[in-house]
Amino acid sequence: MPETGNIVLRAEGLAKTFHLGFLRKRVEAVREATFDVRRGEIFGYLGPNGSGKTTTLKMLMGLVFPTRGRAEVLGRPVPNREAKRKLGYLPESPYFYEYLAPEEFLDLVGALFDVPRRVRRERAAKLITRVGLDNARGRPLRKFSKGMLQRVGIAQALMGDPELVVLDEPMTGLDPLGRKEIRDLMLELKHEGRTVVYSTHILPDVEMTCDRVAMIFAGRIRSGGPLAELLTARLLSTEVCLRHGVGHIPELPEGAKVRQTPDGMLVDLPEGADVDAFLKAALGSGSNILSVTPRRESLEDLFVRQASEKGAT
Ligand SMILES: Nc1ncnc2c1ncn2[C@@H]1O[C@H](COP(=O)(O)OP(=O)(O)OP(=O)(O)O)[C@@H](O)[C@H]1O
Ligand SMILES: [Mg+2]
Repeated sequence: MPETGNIVLRAEGLAKTFHLGFLRKRVEAVREATFDVRRGEIFGYLGPNGSGKTTTLKMLMGLVFPTRGRAEVLGRPVPNREAKRKLGYLPESPYFYEYLAPEEFLDLVGALFDVPRRVRRERAAKLITRVGLDNARGRPLRKFSKGMLQRVGIAQALMGDPELVVLDEPMTGLDPLGRKEIRDLMLELKHEGRTVVYSTHILPDVEMTCDRVAMIFAGRIRSGGPLAELLTARLLSTEVCLRHGVGHIPELPEGAKVRQTPDGMLVDLPEGADVDAFLKAALGSGSNILSVTPRRESLEDLFVRQASEKGAT
């Protein structure tokens, strides 16, 4: 069990039901969200559109009151002013004062965090460089593109020098280069000892950055844990590359697929096939084994499998 002092964010049975319109139609946005985030890690909160990611993060930020459950940030029950000062948050649809230039907007955010004037000027200037907006200094935010505004949003989340950074879909609107820059920035934040939590449905980004994840489908968390464990848990198939000998081609187990290659052939043995027996038979028939590669489940395979299970949508 991790020490509780190491836990910087905790969701315990969080649930939120909205009531819509005159007939008060019930929308169960989040049914059950339980997870915790440890100090110094990058935590991914994954789920398809409408699965409840934003609502969970809003409950953790104290912006939406939960119907059930408990939220804790930096060791304090939400909402808490002291915890809020050490917290940076990028909302899903941030609001910007559009006549301000990025340095003026960041200065305003810094003032709200009580950062002294000189410190906040320096910090704003550094953050503008860090999010790749050097060439847009002095330009009012209303003239910014979507991706540029997203970068301003990320910079404002860092103005208070936060211990914990919570970003709701930080990659939205960014081109592949921009996404790489933000991935690198998140890794830098981690190296500085900060904790990063972000929601997304862009799975390759998660594979490249996250230490642990939670996956939410239709308001319920269905799996979670260290990414390395989730991805190595399930063997999908084993690929054997071999060169024929003079003897017969070894007999193939049921469900195996074969493809000819310039070197010989590639045999894809399904999950559960007796790989050892096949390799012995292949060697016995005089074939050379060129490689044996286990194919593990990717995050995308896992996500699709979870999404297609009963009750996930
Ligand atoms: N204020 C609200 N009133 C009524 N229903 C809401 C409200 N906010 C969210 N919902 C509903 O709750 C569900 C979850 O929404 P949420 O925004 O949390 O999903 P999400 O996982 O962030 O989706 P996306 O990936 O599209 O951002 C949706 O069905 C949505 O329509
Ligand atoms: Mg959302």
